Amino acid sequence: MRTRAEHGWMRFKSVLLMCLAVASMAGCGGGGSGSGALSPAATPNFSVSAGTYTTAQSIAITDTTANATIYYTTNGGTPTTSSAAYSAPISVTANTTIEAIAVASGYANSSVATASYIINLPQASTPAFSVSAGAYTALQSVAITDSIAGATIYYTTDGTTPTTQSAVYSTPIPVATTTTIEALAVTANYTNSGVASATYTINFPAAPVISAVSDIHQGFIYQIVTDRFFDGDTTNDNPSESPGLYDSNGFTNPVKADWNLYWGGDLAGIQQKLTYLKSIGAAGIWISPPMNNIRVNAGTSNGETGYHGYWTRDFMQIDEHFGNEDAAGGGNNTWTAFDNLVAAAHADNIRVYVDFPANDTNPIDGGEDGSLYNNGTLITTYSADTGATTYYHHNPNISNYEDRYQVQYYTLESLADLDQTNPWVDSYLKGAVTNLLAHGVDGFRFDAAQETNWGWEYSLENTIANWSGTSSPARMPGQPFIFGEWDEGSGDALYPDSVKFSNNSGMNLLDYTLYWQLADVFGTNGSFYDIDDELTLEDAGSSSSTAAPFAQPNDLVTFFDNHDNPRIMSEGASQMAVKQAISFLLTCRGVPVLYYGDEQYLHNDTDSGKVPYNRNGMTSFGSTDATLLIQYLAALRAANPALAYGTMTQRWINSDVYIYERQLGTNVVLVAINKNPSADQAVSGLYTDLPPGSYTDYLAQTMGGTGIAVTGAAGSNNPVTDFTLPHNSVSIWVSAGSVPPAIGSVTPRVANSGSAVTINGAGFGAATGSVNFTVGSTPLPATVNNWSNGQITVTVPAFAAAGAATVTVTQRTARSNAAPFTVNTARLIPVNFSVTGTPALAGTDVILLTGNVAELGNGATTWNGAIGPVTIPAAGSALQTVSVPAGTTVQYHFFVLHSDGTITPESATHSYAVPSTGVGATAVNW
Ligand code: NOJ
Repeated sequence: MRTRAEHGWMRFKSVLLMCLAVASMAGCGGGGSGSGALSPAATPNFSVSAGTYTTAQSIAITDTTANATIYYTTNGGTPTTSSAAYSAPISVTANTTIEAIAVASGYANSSVATASYIINLPQASTPAFSVSAGAYTALQSVAITDSIAGATIYYTTDGTTPTTQSAVYSTPIPVATTTTIEALAVTANYTNSGVASATYTINFPAAPVISAVSDIHQGFIYQIVTDRFFDGDTTNDNPSESPGLYDSNGFTNPVKADWNLYWGGDLAGIQQKLTYLKSIGAAGIWISPPMNNIRVNAGTSNGETGYHGYWTRDFMQIDEHFGNEDAAGGGNNTWTAFDNLVAAAHADNIRVYVDFPANDTNPIDGGEDGSLYNNGTLITTYSADTGATTYYHHNPNISNYEDRYQVQYYTLESLADLDQTNPWVDSYLKGAVTNLLAHGVDGFRFDAAQETNWGWEYSLENTIANWSGTSSPARMPGQPFIFGEWDEGSGDALYPDSVKFSNNSGMNLLDYTLYWQLADVFGTNGSFYDIDDELTLEDAGSSSSTAAPFAQPNDLVTFFDNHDNPRIMSEGASQMAVKQAISFLLTCRGVPVLYYGDEQYLHNDTDSGKVPYNRNGMTSFGSTDATLLIQYLAALRAANPALAYGTMTQRWINSDVYIYERQLGTNVVLVAINKNPSADQAVSGLYTDLPPGSYTDYLAQTMGGTGIAVTGAAGSNNPVTDFTLPHNSVSIWVSAGSVPPAIGSVTPRVANSGSAVTINGAGFGAATGSVNFTVGSTPLPATVNNWSNGQITVTVPAFAAAGAATVTVTQRTARSNAAPFTVNTARLIPVNFSVTGTPALAGTDVILLTGNVAELGNGATTWNGAIGPVTIPAAGSALQTVSVPAGTTVQYHFFVLHSDGTITPESATHSYAVPSTGVGATAVNW
């Protein structure tokens, strides 16, 4: 028996079968003609006949039956109403069979229309390279073209076969190392091209030998974050004095590493890599602060340690991560690793500059609460520092970097802010600095010089200039070279203060002002005018502001990358741009600093390459095209004094091309950079002090450069025959001449009578000549201690009057340029000059201080001549630390300088007896 449901299904099935039987004749379900038999819809038509074609086809499908829906397949299947419904022409780029039916209401489905298309597309032409595969000794610039206009070219340089996922070609590819370029052209109506491949074998000529230099200006400084350079001693990676701050992934697996922990790099590691540093021509290293840091994780911003060195707790000891623990476990770390590094560096003619953070100690919002130790003995913490005379300033974080008081007396980034005029702190910091000198260091980079007490820093410079102790290991010849960090752009309010500070204190500055332009030009393809304008401002001063020129631009310390800003590669610089930046840096005026790893193209772009991702673990110490370039440039700096000490003059410029000349005597170096990646530059109207003749490129075209011809002219401004400067190139043309005695730098620039001063330059001659210091119009001969053709050491003569001086070198009858110098009245003591009851200040009024000794401005009442502008702790008061001659009674007064140049002085002059040691203070009422 069937069920009810089965019965129903049988009935339906018989109707369905009947219907299907007639459907082939007339359709089922209405429409059409006849009695129940539906006629089929018209068979669809294809707009393009089936057949063989050599171009892609666009196939429209139409049907004459009104309102018919067309269903089609392209996969060989018979179309049904489940197939794709046709709506727009079908693009046929390869062999295809289209089958289609029309379905319309009141009609049976149409017959299936079928058309097969055979598409025989031609293949795109294989790309062509502008340079034939082969061996070359010069940089090659390889353009890739395809004969089909508009074809997209994909290419690789890593040996893989290019696909449409590979780099898209846009500008010529600079080839500086042996490289295989493979390229593929892709374009509509063509099949993909064959792969073009060319191997370029590059064998650059070796760089000239780098001669040993006697002064840092003739070389460059290599900046190292010690923890990130090389782990030379694994026993100090996780020291027992401060365990748990180390991440072993750092160097080997940085993706997994915590970038705020120690990675193991140390002083022994630097020592082990001195051969590498010497091979690239480093004449000095700047090492991150090696002194003892806090021994715990500070827990701020993700958990951070003092791996960078800037969280000092004890300025008298070397950190256990960088050097050695006290073997006896007494917590007094040894100096062994430090001394070993200094001795080994000096043996390789590499000077050691120590980063010294005199402004602050360590975090007050975690960690060790601003702990301060003196050679292992706890002196204070920030919270415990509540005495009448505190070690620290207890002010908020700096919020206004244009406020002279905040900058010097407020807290920098929550780091306990030392009061350098606390007598203990003053003596401790100076003791730590001279202790480092006794351990053989050749100079200092003073951290946060801008945020440290400016007036006190004059006495710090004076301490270093006066220091005459012995060192073990021995220091390199020459007085210590010091430079401070002052992060000021030229448009910033305190830029004029920075120039005045450097000129008068004798502390050279890192050239941050120029840095911002270098990062812009080489990192993000800015205009060369930005560099040129900045150099003009710094070296020549400004008529529109109080900014004076820097007294000795060749003493500014130049750089394009550092540990506080993203590397330019993280900002977008190509390897070529890095090499152009290096070329500029090592030929620009100033003492160049190369940030470690740039020569290995080191960068990590996490968080745009900001701190800490710019403090990469050094991964390679091999040769690159950048290390070769550095060798060429270091050899030239060492050989031609125009680069170390000469003038710098712009000779030709547009936004992509910069041609500038360095000159000292008849030593001339002309440098031309074209950073445009594809456009050669026709250069006409170029003049030079190079003598007439033909010049090949000193860099032997390793940077794609060219030669020039110089013709004679009256005078020395010689025309260069019009020439084409290749795209993406650096050319250097050199004339090694002679120099009458020429002073390039005087170190220090500010010192006392009786202090040793090193005069660096060229053409001094082999035989001892004479050196004169002139204050006012009185030239006095200096005692000569050492004399060579490029370096003289003298003792400053005893002057009755102090102040602005000049130095000259005389060899037989030839006399050098007069280099600026300042003679101090006596040893300097920092004194806090404070005043209450000051007049209300209007507009841009400032308060300055003047007095009867050179250190107080010798009575001058101009912005640049007097001391200040002084700090304003609160309306109605002023405070200024000035380093003044010890044991001297000085007369001084404050005055208001108004914007129109007029002044309102105090009515009275004050008298103050400066102590002969320690620090001083004097407070008056206006
Ligand atoms: C500037 C240094 O260069 C930076 O790295 C450091 O964190 C601050 N000063 C504070 O010491």
